[in-house]
Amino acid sequence: MARFWITLSLASVARASFDSNLNYNSPSRRHPSLGIDVPRVVKRGLDYDSCDHDQLNFTHGVASGDPYPNSVILWTRISPQKANDNSNVTVEGNVPLYSHETEQYIKASPNPICVDYQVATDKDFRHVADKGTAYTTSDIDYTIKIEASHLEPFTTYYYQFSVCGSIKKSPVGRTKTSPDRDDDVTNIGFAVFSCSNYPNGYFNAYGNVARKDKVDYIIHLGDYIYESGKGTMGKDARATNPAGEIFTLYDYRTRIALYRTDPDLQLSHQKFAWIPVWDDHEVANNAYRDGSSRMNNTEDSFIKAGGVSVEQRKMNAVRAYFEWMPIRQVSMDDNLRIWRAFSMGKLVDLIMLDTRHYDRSITTLDFNNEYISDIKDDAGRTLMGSHQENWFLGQLSKSKDRGAVWRLVGNQIIFSRMDNSAWLKGGLNADQWDGYTASRNRTLSHLYTNQIPNTIFLAGDSHANWVSDLVWLDTKPYDPVTGSGAIGVEFAGTAVSSSGYGRNYTHANTVSRRLVEDNRELQWAEGWFRGYVELQVGREEVVAKFLGCPTVATRNPYEISLANFTVVAGENRLKRSVAGGKVETGALQRGEVRGTNLTVDTETGQWKVRGFEQMYIQY
Ligand SMILES: *[C@@H]1O[C@H](CO)[C@@H](O)[C@H](O)[C@H]1NC(C)=O
Ligand SMILES: *[C@@H]1O[C@H](CO)[C@@H](O)[C@H](O)[C@H]1NC(C)=O
Ligand SMILES: *[C@@H]1O[C@H](CO)[C@@H](O)[C@H](O)[C@H]1NC(C)=O
Ligand SMILES: *[C@@H]1O[C@H](CO)[C@@H](O)[C@H](O)[C@H]1NC(C)=O
Ligand SMILES: *[C@@H]1O[C@H](CO)[C@@H](O)[C@H](O)[C@H]1NC(C)=O
Ligand SMILES: *[C@@H]1O[C@H](CO)[C@@H](O)[C@H](O)[C@H]1NC(C)=O
Ligand SMILES: *[C@@H]1O[C@H](CO)[C@@H](O)[C@H](O)[C@H]1NC(C)=O
Repeated sequence: MARFWITLSLASVARASFDSNLNYNSPSRRHPSLGIDVPRVVKRGLDYDSCDHDQLNFTHGVASGDPYPNSVILWTRISPQKANDNSNVTVEGNVPLYSHETEQYIKASPNPICVDYQVATDKDFRHVADKGTAYTTSDIDYTIKIEASHLEPFTTYYYQFSVCGSIKKSPVGRTKTSPDRDDDVTNIGFAVFSCSNYPNGYFNAYGNVARKDKVDYIIHLGDYIYESGKGTMGKDARATNPAGEIFTLYDYRTRIALYRTDPDLQLSHQKFAWIPVWDDHEVANNAYRDGSSRMNNTEDSFIKAGGVSVEQRKMNAVRAYFEWMPIRQVSMDDNLRIWRAFSMGKLVDLIMLDTRHYDRSITTLDFNNEYISDIKDDAGRTLMGSHQENWFLGQLSKSKDRGAVWRLVGNQIIFSRMDNSAWLKGGLNADQWDGYTASRNRTLSHLYTNQIPNTIFLAGDSHANWVSDLVWLDTKPYDPVTGSGAIGVEFAGTAVSSSGYGRNYTHANTVSRRLVEDNRELQWAEGWFRGYVELQVGREEVVAKFLGCPTVATRNPYEISLANFTVVAGENRLKRSVAGGKVETGALQRGEVRGTNLTVDTETGQWKVRGFEQMYIQY
């Protein structure tokens, strides 16, 4: 009888700690049949005391994200193996629990693995604000995702995980809660990233921001990973793992895990709370609701993908993403929902969108580009689906009503018109908002009709810098000289490491020049440099600094200031003269391309950065 009671109480303790790992609740603890059957996992292994602690490692550092005023998400992975769990979900909704466990692994470390965590205001953990226990198993690839609570707003915290009953500890992470809704916060700094392609180059941009340490939070607009394979492991320094294109759950886990071995990315996750959304490549190129350019909804594609359908692939990608990213699932019954919002004091509302996977109508898939350009103005086309779009427009209004000074829209693709004839045949890139004019018109109509001020769109995806006044051409008057008539601003940033445009430096600037000539609301264009945007949001103004990495062919800490822009609160346009009338490179609508630190040898076309050494940032 006594024994019976012990077993029962152990089971309930274990159950509670399983619940604290949010990855077991995905998609919903109310619907175990749709996700992981936690009672079954609990039953399978109460023997966590017997696991061999020496064989367990924190394999991929720590991470934090989705800051709220009193809580933040903390992440780590504690595993008896570096490799990812290789179970494959083969039938939708049928998650095999046992099939993947090898005899050897069971001997080395029986499920589950137990960790304690603590969160404190100091690095030595003398002032602990929250602590707890969580379990993980192979079912969720040994990931741990917990919500630290009882925290104070806009406060820096340190956190650490440790294996229960062992001295083995994770690295110490740093994070920061968001300001309370009504706090009179005066400044919030963000670094905005997109398009980090591991085999294409080094993640110097991530590292530079972490070392400079001038922002509060990281925004990532997607293409955090890429699905295609490149290079040979053991031969090429940045070869992908898996080697080829990814399809299965194991594949997506392994690919994200590879990216997370990058020291600059790890450093960024360790130092900052991240607020990411996905773009297309987290699943596959030019993805939309029902497919991508990398896969058709056909038997042929199914066979080529080794028996993975379009829907299955998307489910695999999304599941691995939620396992590995330090973010909240804000609607437990809607496991494709990543769109969410953050109220940061009276200063800013940050609205993160999913213009890709949630409910997007068909996009350009290479073979259908002509068809898409024919239907781009179809009123029935949608980028977000009505559920998300109504929420988005509602958020903009609510934000104005509550008196938040700024609205930042974290969106994947470029909102403004891009007459692209300078480098794209036909001139139309219908994979951007240009291919969904009805959605764009509804957004603009909402902004103008409700006179919603101080909206700043952010975009990634394009691997180039585009800075525009937010305008409704042919409907609302707009003066490109003064900016009057505009309703906001768009800052679209270059990639961390994906390639931009231009065959050489001179050619890139020629293309940029053509682009600003063809698009009068486009005030600055630049396509040569990899980098990021640093956004300092204040009550009186927002300053956007565009930084460029001279090269991503090596791991290095150099960067150059490309251009700075100011938006004055209440003006709803870029401050004149735009960029202070001078930029370092690219093409400025009315102003000077100064090239203080960048010089071009006109004979060879080679470009050089003057004072390269002075711009060294200590590792
Ligand atoms: C974990 O770390 C220990 C000590 O650093 C090492 O001996 C062991 O091989 C590692 N285990 C795995 C699975 O990586
Ligand atoms: C899952 O898929 C991967 C890649 O196709 C394969 O290597 C692995 O053996 C599969 N695992 C199981 C348990 O079937
Ligand atoms: C999808 O179908 C189109 C049209 O038949 C074809 O051109 C394209 O290659 C297919 N894509 C894939 C990834 O199989
Ligand atoms: C969107 O508005 C523009 C005018 O700015 C108009 O030319 C276009 O037809 C509209 N598109 C749709 C789908 O309403
Ligand atoms: C040019 O380089 C100098 C020193 O290296 C630096 O102080 C200055 O800010 C740089 N200017 C730009 C526009 O990057
Ligand atoms: C941007 O502003 C910084 C100061 O914050 C300055 O050092 C840099 O030179 C400016 N860059 C350009 C291109 O004007
Ligand atoms: C740069 O690229 C352009 C366009 O391909 C080409 O015409 C030009 O010769 C190149 N310049 C040099 C110096 O290679």
